[in-house]
Amino acid sequence: MDLELEGKVIVVTGGSKGIGYGICERLIQEGAIPIIVGRNKESIPKAVVELKKRGGRVGYAYAELSDDKHCKLAVEKILQDFGTIDGLVNNAGINDSVSLAEGNFEKFTRSIHRNLTHYFMMAHYCLPALKKSKGAIVNIGSKTSVTGQGGTSGYAAANGGRNALTREWAVELLPFSIRVNAVIVAECYTPLYEKWIQTFPNPEEKLRQIQEKIPLEKRMTTAAEIGSTVAFLLSNQSSHTTGQLVFVDGGYTHLDRSL
Ligand SMILES: NC(=O)c1ccc[n+]([C@@H]2O[C@H](COP(=O)([O-])OP(=O)(O)OC[C@H]3O[C@@H](n4cnc5c(N)ncnc54)[C@H](O)[C@@H]3O)[C@@H](O)[C@H]2O)c1
Repeated sequence: MDLELEGKVIVVTGGSKGIGYGICERLIQEGAIPIIVGRNKESIPKAVVELKKRGGRVGYAYAELSDDKHCKLAVEKILQDFGTIDGLVNNAGINDSVSLAEGNFEKFTRSIHRNLTHYFMMAHYCLPALKKSKGAIVNIGSKTSVTGQGGTSGYAAANGGRNALTREWAVELLPFSIRVNAVIVAECYTPLYEKWIQTFPNPEEKLRQIQEKIPLEKRMTTAAEIGSTVAFLLSNQSSHTTGQLVFVDGGYTHLDRSL
């Protein structure tokens, strides 16, 4: 299936690592131009070099996404460099363990800014360009929005917000033929996941226990598998799909618990 993404300029927040990088790799395969927006001055240049080796064009803009001014400047830079935006993938975030018991006002609101506010701001600043291109938005989300996890109120609330904004924007943007969907992730081995698993006394045992509970093939989802679904949802091959929460999780969230 030709996804017809050749030459399309796609903004991917947090695109230099983990799931975001998997998405950029998939986009390069399709001839699209991924634009990495993030703060990491080590991983971004490395990712750009690696992706360029695959023979495609790649862009980037540095931004601490929890700072609104950075979001605005990043979008302005992208428009200066490329003139258009055909898609936005809101992906950057962190499971920052702000619990109900130990959290406070500052920690909770900081978590919301790290995980949700920039989803809104990036979509807001990209919107005029997306209206011109009739582009698409994909929000990456987490199973914690529907299952909870315990000890991570800010992250779970932000992910509930990501789901709600997906539906809300799908409605608001109907007149512009801008489609908005979410890809919900459960267990994908990335630098963020590695950090989280290391918080357990026996990380290897914990990882084994989690993998055993993933119905399809008892394994983690790969970033490439998430990238493929994201590429499809950005493309015109999904031209009548909007407002959907697509769980790319090997059945982890919804299949029978007795499996
Ligand atoms: N890994 C999983 O199993 C999993 C599960 C559910 C949801 N998710 C979601 O997927 C998304 C990506 O997760 P990942 O596991 O690839 O993470 P990761 O830490 O491996 O990569 C995230 C990237 O985003 C960047 N980033 C994060 N916050 C930023 C900020 N405020 N400003 C600028 N850059 C920022 C980081 O520097 C990093 O490059 C997150 O939103 C997370 O909620 C991941």
